[in-house]
Amino acid sequence: MSSAPIGLFDSGIGGLTVLKSVRAQLPHENFIYLGDTARLPYGSKSPETIMRYLQQNINFLVDRRVKSVVVACNSASSVLVGRSDLKFSVPVYNVIEPGAQVAVDTSKTKRIGVLGTRATIAGGAYQQAIAKISPDAEVFVQACPLLVPLVEEGWDTDPITNLVVYRYLQPLVAKQIDTLILGCTHYPFLRDAIGRVAGPTVQLVDSAQAIAKMLEADSKNEEAQPDGQIELLVTDSSPSFQEVAARLMSPYKLPAIQQIDL
Ligand code: DGL
Repeated sequence: MSSAPIGLFDSGIGGLTVLKSVRAQLPHENFIYLGDTARLPYGSKSPETIMRYLQQNINFLVDRRVKSVVVACNSASSVLVGRSDLKFSVPVYNVIEPGAQVAVDTSKTKRIGVLGTRATIAGGAYQQAIAKISPDAEVFVQACPLLVPLVEEGWDTDPITNLVVYRYLQPLVAKQIDTLILGCTHYPFLRDAIGRVAGPTVQLVDSAQAIAKMLEADSKNEEAQPDGQIELLVTDSSPSFQEVAARLMSPYKLPAIQQIDL
């Protein structure tokens, strides 16, 4: 089982940022990445629908004989937090608990901000995960539905994006947070824009980096190969898709993409 691939899935291709971080940490592992591009976005859907998609995606990856599954999507991860009743045949990792842990470890004032999709913020998963680790922490949240399309449009350095980031972030900055969780697959691309508005006193926590560290501690591939393989599967492929995927995966080369049905 140790040479079996690690499965990752996301609502689309944004999770390639998570694959990139995990791959950098575990270069010898094999990966299967599933992007559910046909049903994107998850961030505007109900918890019931997201749960149904999550279970289908996990079943699909388990059928492909993965040794574990990383739910790279924050919106999908949000329906897993606090659900110890859900059982799977392989370990399933969400990105929210590791992100919450790093934020609590990083914050000195215990005033923590969280940015995410509507589903992630409304579900309260980050708030719950942080409260479990540090009941005294104060958590300030902001749903940012406009940020994913701006990144997909390639406008991460556009002045319009700076304005939108300012609009979303200002209320959290006014709360004097000292730590901010980038709780969505796409936000690492806005690190500079977010960092400028948040200012030098606010530490940014990237949930992709947090899960990569946790997986490194848990994964043992004794049959390690010099360079692991990446299989990239999507449920729909549009003309702009390849270009956005290549940008998200850069500087790594984008592997060949296969379209599949779930
Ligand atoms: N991958 C999603 C997340 O991290 C963002 C895109 C979507 O809404 O599906 O929350």
